[in-house]
Amino acid sequence: MTGKRVLLIIGGGIAAYKSLEVIRLLAKRGVASRCVLTRAGAEFVTPLSVAALSQDKVYTDLFSLTDEAEMGHIELSRSADLVVVCPATADLIAKAAAGLANDLATTALLATDKPVLMAPSMNVRMWAHPATQRNVAQLIADGVRVMSPDEGPMACGEFGPGRLPEPERIVAEVMAMLNDDGVVLGPLRGFRAVVTAGPTREPIDPVRYLSNHSSGRQGYEIAAALHRLGADVRLVTGPTALTPPAGVTVRAVETAEQMLSAVEADMPADIFVSVAAVADWRPAEPAATKLKLKSEKRGAGKAAGVALDLVENPDILKLISARKKDRPRLIVGFAAETDDVEANAAAKLARKGCDWIIANDVSGDVMGGMDNEVLLVRAEGVERWPRMSKSDVATRIAERIAEAFNDPEG
Ligand code: C5P
Repeated sequence: MTGKRVLLIIGGGIAAYKSLEVIRLLAKRGVASRCVLTRAGAEFVTPLSVAALSQDKVYTDLFSLTDEAEMGHIELSRSADLVVVCPATADLIAKAAAGLANDLATTALLATDKPVLMAPSMNVRMWAHPATQRNVAQLIADGVRVMSPDEGPMACGEFGPGRLPEPERIVAEVMAMLNDDGVVLGPLRGFRAVVTAGPTREPIDPVRYLSNHSSGRQGYEIAAALHRLGADVRLVTGPTALTPPAGVTVRAVETAEQMLSAVEADMPADIFVSVAAVADWRPAEPAATKLKLKSEKRGAGKAAGVALDLVENPDILKLISARKKDRPRLIVGFAAETDDVEANAAAKLARKGCDWIIANDVSGDVMGGMDNEVLLVRAEGVERWPRMSKSDVATRIAERIAEAFNDPEG
């Protein structure tokens, strides 16, 4: 990977200081950063820190771009293998979506012929604003990769999606994008992995469904981590608000039955990681037309219940584990428990017929949150991992899988 180079555009947001960590982590992986600091970005980090870490001159509007001695914006934007905007502020996203070019950063973005990755960071309301969402959709349509921001407490005191993705996640995305055009090297090279993620939606009628709070984040992170180690990854996902990781083949589904068909279509595989929170039941016969309130029919005031006739969904994990032909060599299931986590997980390992269970206690803030605290349950014993980010959990699981595949006894 050495010899690769990114053009890093640092926008003006409180998270700009994290771009320094991105430069450092990329350098550790042999990727050089040439940096453009916007005028607002320079309010948050100094050109001196950026220059020291990137070991290169920092480009700002202060340099005369017409000077023969300086690198012009066209050359600057094309001298890299990838352009990364970090943090991508609401303003930079809006300007890029509209094709404005009124400073060095936006001019470079308009002039580049290289792939572009944006790592957004802004206040939760600014991120949720229809204008920002419209701009993000436009950028995606233009071929730009826009990462999903992280969720959590923000510098402004609010809570929600809008935080800059953690530097490790940005760097992983950069590495995946740099690898896309070449051969991915890694211990899982040559192995195919199928990962399910997110909730399923089971229709009640044309406008209503049964579902759960799964965000899909843990499954997406595992797909990304397996890809980083070189696996050919297929991600079968229920509806989520996340951007799929670069380099991973995605099949989007809604119901459990569709998820099962998609997983079967991706077989044979070497690895199956079943992270999806598949709905256990579905309405037996979804209504063809929208159900009406009974009390509306009978006259106002009379409360009336409605019974939903439910049937069990196929258990995807169990069915894939029971395959006689083409059973994946390693099958990992998840167990979301609210009590007796270890005992329930061990029982689930036997009941599902899978090889490992990753068990987590979802009685707290795990479902939909950024962190996870898990147990790895295998026939040979149980390991308790400390609380860490879902991205770190994913990296560790992928490393364990790689170890299992490279174990001569395995
Ligand atoms: O039985 P329980 O739903 O707790 O099992 C969780 C595990 O089984 C997860 O790995 C989940 O992806 C998988 N599962 C499945 N199909 C179902 C229900 C669960 O694949 N219908």
